[in-house]
Amino acid sequence: MPATVIIIDYGSQDAQILARRVREAEVYAAIQPCTVSAATIAAAKPAAVILSGGRDSPGEADAQPLAADLIKRGVPVLAIPEAHRTGDDTLRNFLFAVARITPDWTVASFIERVISETRAKVGDTGRVICALSGGVDSTVVAALLHKALGDRLHCVFVDHGLLRMHEGQEVTDYLKHFGLNLRHVQAQSDFLDKLRGVEDPERKRVIIGHTFIEIFEREAEAIKREHGEVRFLAQGTVYPDVIESVSPKGGTVKSHHNVGGLPERMNMDLIEPVRELFKDEVRKVGAGLGIPDSILWRHPFPGPGLAIRVIGEVLPERLDILRQADAIVQAELRRSGWYNKVWQGFAILLPLKTVGVLDDRRTYEHVVALRVVDSVDAMTADWSRLPAAVLAGIATRIINEVKGVNRVVYDISPKPPSTIEWE
Ligand code: XMP
Repeated sequence: MPATVIIIDYGSQDAQILARRVREAEVYAAIQPCTVSAATIAAAKPAAVILSGGRDSPGEADAQPLAADLIKRGVPVLAIPEAHRTGDDTLRNFLFAVARITPDWTVASFIERVISETRAKVGDTGRVICALSGGVDSTVVAALLHKALGDRLHCVFVDHGLLRMHEGQEVTDYLKHFGLNLRHVQAQSDFLDKLRGVEDPERKRVIIGHTFIEIFEREAEAIKREHGEVRFLAQGTVYPDVIESVSPKGGTVKSHHNVGGLPERMNMDLIEPVRELFKDEVRKVGAGLGIPDSILWRHPFPGPGLAIRVIGEVLPERLDILRQADAIVQAELRRSGWYNKVWQGFAILLPLKTVGVLDDRRTYEHVVALRVVDSVDAMTADWSRLPAAVLAGIATRIINEVKGVNRVVYDISPKPPSTIEWE
């Protein structure tokens, strides 16, 4: 294990910012809620502990007993009320001069550790099924596990009918490049049938999550019949999924389908090698594995796919409209040179129609919302200040080329209090 710094979260956003800053200093940092006991922390043998407060913290008095106990046990402790006011010098001084940590959290050491841990967990003959979405996270997971296990890794790519235009083909084409053991499952109707009549965003996510697992179980059975026992399921869960699904401040923000939607009856052990990484760290690991930029710098795409971008009921004709509008957004962002400057850009189809006019005749058609955001790790985000000409180009093309849409609006909400996705 690398030297670990535990950051105790007293209910602020700062804990994540601190974790990132410690990791940038090549020291591994993990976050624990403030309800954790000093004994539990000491048992994890951290090289140091940072107490992270913030505007909403319960106050200094609450942190004192834990700090006193840790100090008594000989663990170096740093208490910070506001992370953004704490300079890197203070942090580095604490990590390297006070706690005397040797920085060992590097891409190469991470890859090595995942490979050896995976081999130890899976054994010499064990097999793993990897849930591949074609996004950055699961692609990096597949490449990592392929390095550890070779042909004993079985990747399953489920086309749930909620992908962007041509995405299924593009994804399977580039995955072949890795020489992966890949099963391409056509499961469009499994998902769309179950989503019929469902409008609630959480219900949609849970249905999609369950259906995914059902299909993996079915595929696992097929692989088992061919190769014998398969006990492990690998997923591209990343740190923000973990933090947001189990928010210490109380309550689920959204059930990310790869965490919150897991049915209890699932009888496979999970392997989540990038669970502790932020998105930019996943990309660094991907680059370390030789995955090309064109794959690593694709915009994030949520597991539930276009289902959470068709607001309300997901119907094939609505997916068609959204797919066409989204393809225009992607093409125009690339053409204008903005694709790589923004975190994520996409279209959303609203379940309402508005009046327009075409060739002197009244129209009554759908509204498409355009969401383009800047972000570092998706925990916070702001709307991208795209030039008016780029926005106009996107809107004009969507209205002219996508049948059934007569209006485009631009979402100028920051996260928080909004989220990046609309559902
Ligand atoms: P939100 O909407 O929570 O999104 O601000 C943060 C980032 O996560 C992506 N996202 C998901 N990714 N499964 C995923 O794999 C999900 O259920 C999911 N929901 C949101 C979103 O696209 C953004 O990049």
